[in-house]
Amino acid sequence: MTTESSSVSAPSVSTAVQVGSLALKNPILTASGTFGYGLEFAPYGDLKSLGGIIVKGLSLKPRLGNPMPRLAETPCGMLNAIGLQNIGVEAFLQDKLPALPHQDVPIIANLYACDADEFAALGGILARAEGIAAIEVNVSCPNVASGGILFGQDPTQAARVTEAVKKQAGNTPVWVKLTPNVSDIAAVARAVEKAGADALCCINTLPGMAVDLERRTPRLANVIGGLSGPAIKPVALRCVWEVARAVKIPVIGVGGITSARDVLEFILAGATAVQVGTANFMRPDAAFAMAAALPAAMQALRIASLDELRGTLKV
Ligand SMILES: Cc1cc2nc3c(=O)[nH]c(=O)nc-3n(C[C@H](O)[C@H](O)[C@H](O)COP(=O)(O)O)c2cc1C
Repeated sequence: MTTESSSVSAPSVSTAVQVGSLALKNPILTASGTFGYGLEFAPYGDLKSLGGIIVKGLSLKPRLGNPMPRLAETPCGMLNAIGLQNIGVEAFLQDKLPALPHQDVPIIANLYACDADEFAALGGILARAEGIAAIEVNVSCPNVASGGILFGQDPTQAARVTEAVKKQAGNTPVWVKLTPNVSDIAAVARAVEKAGADALCCINTLPGMAVDLERRTPRLANVIGGLSGPAIKPVALRCVWEVARAVKIPVIGVGGITSARDVLEFILAGATAVQVGTANFMRPDAAFAMAAALPAAMQALRIASLDELRGTLKV
């Protein structure tokens, strides 16, 4: 494992990117729900070496999540049906945020709610909190019995939630995380951009299931869960490419990223930054290792900045 900072290892290469008004030292963020509240991963690398930390999805009140088992390994990834278990926004702001190095690494709060008013209330609370650099609105979780997926699947609903959060967010950037489970992701992206989103994150998980043949039972108590990991990388790349062509705001790629080369592939497809999710379960130092490896991967491609690569896919 290495925690060497990018500027030390390759001074001729700049890994810096700009997501709207937010400057990141490198494009590598951690995906919500796969990096706890950040501090859990401090033993595996220097949190400050990351582009940013996106914390576990927060709701107004604490949630227990779904019954276990709620994780299942699959050949090229993983299924989860956590059901948005979290400690609630107040406990996060009191107990977790102050301990995070928020002066040195942007902390992005991912939030989940069941209606537009609740989304707005949560957005307001988080935007007023000292140390939150951006808000990521999850309109795409497939694991909650009511609500979640509907917002993200319907351009009008997704826009309504975006507008409601934007009204409360003040200067705090609002990112909206899209679901791939639609026939036209570009249509949702355009509606959310029009509603004022500052960036779009693509993608959340895809619904899937795994079964135990001998026991004749589903592997997840919830039966269906969200598929993530390398299995979904081609879907995520396609979504990033389609969305980046449809909007002017930055796109943040997420889905199956496990190496610095994967990071560059997403940037080639049009992403400004990326998120590392399931890879954190495979190797708890994965995001740190990718941040450290990025300058050399850029040098191998003979690029000095990520702007040179972004969206240059020849089609
Ligand atoms: C265990 C687990 C929990 C997750 N929880 C959240 C969450 O709270 N909010 C959210 O927006 N996405 C959540 N996600 C989705 C991830 O942030 C990410 O979008 C998805 O896993 C695809 O990226 P990956 O293939 O790199 O894991 C979760 C994913 C996993 C595997």
